Amino acid sequence: MTVAQTTQETPSPIEVTEATLPSLDKLSISDETTTAPTEPESNPTNPENPTTEDPIKIKKPALQERLARGDVPFTFGQRFLDDTQDVFSHNAWDHVEPDEEFLNFTEVQLNLQRENPVDEEAKLKYNENPAKFWDKFYKFNTKNFFKDRKWLGIEFPSLFECVKEGAGDKRILEVGAGAGNTFFPLLRENHNDKLRLVAADYSKKAIQVIREQEEFKTAHESGVADAVVWDLSAVGEDGGCSRPEGVEPNSLDAVIMVFVFSALAPDQWEQAVKNVSGLLKKGGKVLFRDYGRGDLAQVRMKKGRYLQENFYIRGDGTRVYFFDEEELRTEMEKGGLKVDHFAFDRRMIVNRQRRLKMFRCWAQMVCTKE
Ligand SMILES: C[S@@+](CC[C@H](N)C(=O)[O-])C[C@H]1O[C@@H](n2cnc3c(N)ncnc32)[C@H](O)[C@@H]1O
Repeated sequence: MTVAQTTQETPSPIEVTEATLPSLDKLSISDETTTAPTEPESNPTNPENPTTEDPIKIKKPALQERLARGDVPFTFGQRFLDDTQDVFSHNAWDHVEPDEEFLNFTEVQLNLQRENPVDEEAKLKYNENPAKFWDKFYKFNTKNFFKDRKWLGIEFPSLFECVKEGAGDKRILEVGAGAGNTFFPLLRENHNDKLRLVAADYSKKAIQVIREQEEFKTAHESGVADAVVWDLSAVGEDGGCSRPEGVEPNSLDAVIMVFVFSALAPDQWEQAVKNVSGLLKKGGKVLFRDYGRGDLAQVRMKKGRYLQENFYIRGDGTRVYFFDEEELRTEMEKGGLKVDHFAFDRRMIVNRQRRLKMFRCWAQMVCTKE
């Protein structure tokens, strides 16, 4: 029995060796078919995130079905596991805290990672020009790589107020828009001719992918959409805030940050929040979702990926951080953003055939500029 294998009755002893790790590696951690918000999908070029082997198939209710059943923001999935149920009777359970076995496995893994960090020379390479690695990423993974974020309508309803017919002058920026998997679903819902929706990313290639879409071209011609290259962590020319071209200070109703903050190094957080805060109007909102501390994607990181505590380099050279609640709250508040709502979306994914339990964790937040 390997480390992540369990039976319900008799939890296996933790036995983490290099030899046991491949059993985890072979699992896809893509969220493509899960019921709630998703994170970036597995990267086929990344040995830590194989996509096709042993996919975990979980039937996903359609957005309309979720809206109809009255799903509300920050409640996430509704499949609860209680003592009477067989954990292996379904593929996924919501709101499940990691069990002791997974926590022990996590501890062993994190120690292994710390003892085998990225070497100093490589660290410099990854931190010097991180956009370069995302450019490469979008060269190979264009618009179909990440799954469209259809859950936006449930988790961040304030966004959808902005796209209703007659909502009036509304300005939204998505930072780290990538290939537009958040940007386009929102654009498709738009009935507000006074909306201005801007996608920003520091990867030139990502912005090119967005600009090449017919949907973008039409919306751009009508003055609704724009897409610009911008580094969220940039320092402004005067040493203050930086802003994307065409976006005025204190002008935005909302800034969307979906899996972008995790790509920054911790010493970039302060400037990034300052920039976002400087762009929002008073009462404007930040809508945030990203990796939570102890997520399977962190735990499974192998030797030679550790940059610093909770910060790693993926196989494709892109960086990723895993957050806890306190540090996110602190950073937002330092930048003048009040955290209205914070929750971890936790899910246990089960591989029934192999009797494996895996724990996912995402942080979700809504903040307001005071
Ligand atoms: C994981 S992808 C998420 C893409 C998109 N938000 C989505 O939900 O599909 C992260 C994106 O953030 C971008 N990014 C990372 N650091 C950035 C920074 N400092 N400024 C702007 N964009 C950044 C990357 O280029 C990449 O496109």
